[in-house]
Amino acid sequence: LNEFQAWDATQIKRVTGKAGGAAADGSGGGQIGEGVDPRYAELLSTLEDQIEFLTEEMLAGQLIGGAEAREINTAAKAKEREQMALAEVRKTLPVYAYREEIIAAVREHQVLIIVGETGSGKTTQIPQYLYEAGLCAPGEDGKPRKVGCTQPRRVAAMSVAKRVADEMGVKLGNEVGYSIRFEDCTSDRTALKYMTDGMLLREFLGEPDLASYAAMMLDEAHERTLHTDILFGLLKDIARFRPDLKLLVSSATLDAAKFSEYFDDAPVFNIPGRRYPVDILYTKAPEADYLEACVITVLQIHITQPHGDILVFFTGQEEIEAAQEALQTRTRGFGTKIPELLVLPIYANLPSDMQAKIFEPTPPGARKVVLATNIAETSITIDNIVYVIDPGFAKQNSYNPRTGMESLIVTPVAKASANQRAGRAGRVAPGKCFRLYTKWAYLNELEDNTIPEIQRTNLGAVVLMLKSLGINDLIHFDFMDPPPAETLIRALEQLYALGALNDKGELTKLGRRTAEFPMDPMLSKMLIVSTSYGCSVEALSIAAMLQIGSSIFYCPKERKLHADNARVNFHRPGGDHLTLLNVWNQWAETQYSTQWCFENFIQVRSLRKARDIREQIEGLMERVELELISNAGEADAICKAITAGFFYHTAKLQKTLDYRTIKHPQTVHIHPSSSLHGQQPRWVVYHELVFTTKEFMRQIVEIKSEWLVEIAPHYYKTNDVADDSGKKMPKVMGRVAGS
Ligand code: CDP
Ligand code: MG
Repeated sequence: LNEFQAWDATQIKRVTGKAGGAAADGSGGGQIGEGVDPRYAELLSTLEDQIEFLTEEMLAGQLIGGAEAREINTAAKAKEREQMALAEVRKTLPVYAYREEIIAAVREHQVLIIVGETGSGKTTQIPQYLYEAGLCAPGEDGKPRKVGCTQPRRVAAMSVAKRVADEMGVKLGNEVGYSIRFEDCTSDRTALKYMTDGMLLREFLGEPDLASYAAMMLDEAHERTLHTDILFGLLKDIARFRPDLKLLVSSATLDAAKFSEYFDDAPVFNIPGRRYPVDILYTKAPEADYLEACVITVLQIHITQPHGDILVFFTGQEEIEAAQEALQTRTRGFGTKIPELLVLPIYANLPSDMQAKIFEPTPPGARKVVLATNIAETSITIDNIVYVIDPGFAKQNSYNPRTGMESLIVTPVAKASANQRAGRAGRVAPGKCFRLYTKWAYLNELEDNTIPEIQRTNLGAVVLMLKSLGINDLIHFDFMDPPPAETLIRALEQLYALGALNDKGELTKLGRRTAEFPMDPMLSKMLIVSTSYGCSVEALSIAAMLQIGSSIFYCPKERKLHADNARVNFHRPGGDHLTLLNVWNQWAETQYSTQWCFENFIQVRSLRKARDIREQIEGLMERVELELISNAGEADAICKAITAGFFYHTAKLQKTLDYRTIKHPQTVHIHPSSSLHGQQPRWVVYHELVFTTKEFMRQIVEIKSEWLVEIAPHYYKTNDVADDSGKKMPKVMGRVAGS
């Protein structure tokens, strides 16, 4: 193996033509072309920039001579596996050897911590084992008792459920189903239910003892998402008065001691991993443009390295799309001179038919490169990955309770994450992980572990949920790691301002209704009060459009002018919410036409999603008896309804032409994508604050300052909103957009 490592590193260095330093000297690797087709070497030299990697050995100053490349015949392996019946594949998973022991342990203990390498079969197999062992035998009502399994990510819940349904030979939604926000794919027959952790939290509202479940598996516990952390506390609590409920906590990392301790020293079941060694390579110097560096590294691997698929970690959809385009353009440039490179993206908002593609075996002779978000770190397993490229970043939310600023920032990953990522390369054969950062950075700049989400996020929705579950004393809630007191206080204060809590901190009638909606309390409040402004139909459409999570407009480079014009044509005075409403209404008028979307540079998938979400919210509105009334789009009433939910998010124009938030003053800016960009209205209410290059307000409407006192008199006093209208505001004409 050492030889293999050395071969690789010298090879890469040599063909990049940047040989020198430790690797080249004295390593008997030979000239360019040894082991690499000279034509490819020529291709490589066409990459204007190339990246040098160093192995651990080089870094340690050890040098080992070059050796013959070993074919990793993963393509053949994939074929072989494909031919094996799924039932046979199940038996090959590491967890299979422990099937009986796991079942026995679950029978014996109420709470069990399960630790196993990603891909060992925890998520897909263990719920099936419990099902096969008879845990789901129907209760008195004739319905099966369920085994639930939570996932932090929607994509994982869906794809795993699909896989398990295939393995069991049943239709998805029958015996095996999934439930994610705004999409329920289960039935009365569902015995194995995969769901997001957020959905299980919602289920508590309707079934506080989870009576319909025989067992619950809190999966991916190591991710420590906000919802999973809350579920720890809730499940620990109900386990006390439901001795028949089995609780499994499963994690991909070895530090299970913390989980065990939290669950009163529950036993830990270890599934020994089957893992091939992975070489870690670091860049010689920091990479300024990691996206470009990724693209080049993929090509370097594709040209110089033996078979095996590549997995690259990006921070989000935009990056993935950019990399996909760059890779496709580059490989097209190489023509047929190199083997086929299949570029496959995976991220949360990718339509599920496209997601399924990453699990299809790579055709012989070709190589697959999967461009993934964090989701591929532990949540989903893609077979045959041999090379991992890790730029070392992920998008992470952070929250400042003092200013209320939430931001999603590209942040260096923690060492634990980097190691998980590297592990993805060693499932089927010895692999390699190319880290696009230096060893020094790894050792000195990366934190050991990611901070649990509960300590870096807004807790408004969760606090409201806990209050609805009758948990009043949040300070003494059994948190595995408690959130900062300031964050809890801020959440309580905000819910009080919204009228969801009374001055004793108890849930009000309005609060109870607000909690019915699976969305931010401010948005729910907007919906609830919209009836009194006579515009609940409009508020419903706006709420649905705000929840899509992916972009609505698209802008092909070659038709940018047309696309921009189309977008601007949808703008409505007043702001973005009204623009969204306008898009929705026009689309609905065409009977949801795909052609219309195409002509207007609109992502039809996004609008279809809005349609689904709208239907779901409409159902919830009916349930809490909110009347659906339309005001035919009269703007002021709609903006007032928005203000009633979002008065907390008010900002005022400054002389500097920046904005300043009112209660917890902070300088903010109108996002360049806003229809109000460049218009500088005096008062605005924004949907969210995001930090990218600076503090931007996204989705904004213009309001009148006197509305604040009218709508939220408990929160704003006249002098808060004194408008200095007498004074002249600076002229905005001539200001350049984007300044
Ligand atoms: O949960 P854990 O990481 O331990 O493993 P798993 O998700 O249960 O995956 C076990 C195996 O099922 C993987 O090796 C994949 O080959 C396969 N799988 C799949 O083919 N398609 C999926 N959507 C999920 C899993
Ligand atoms: Mg799993």
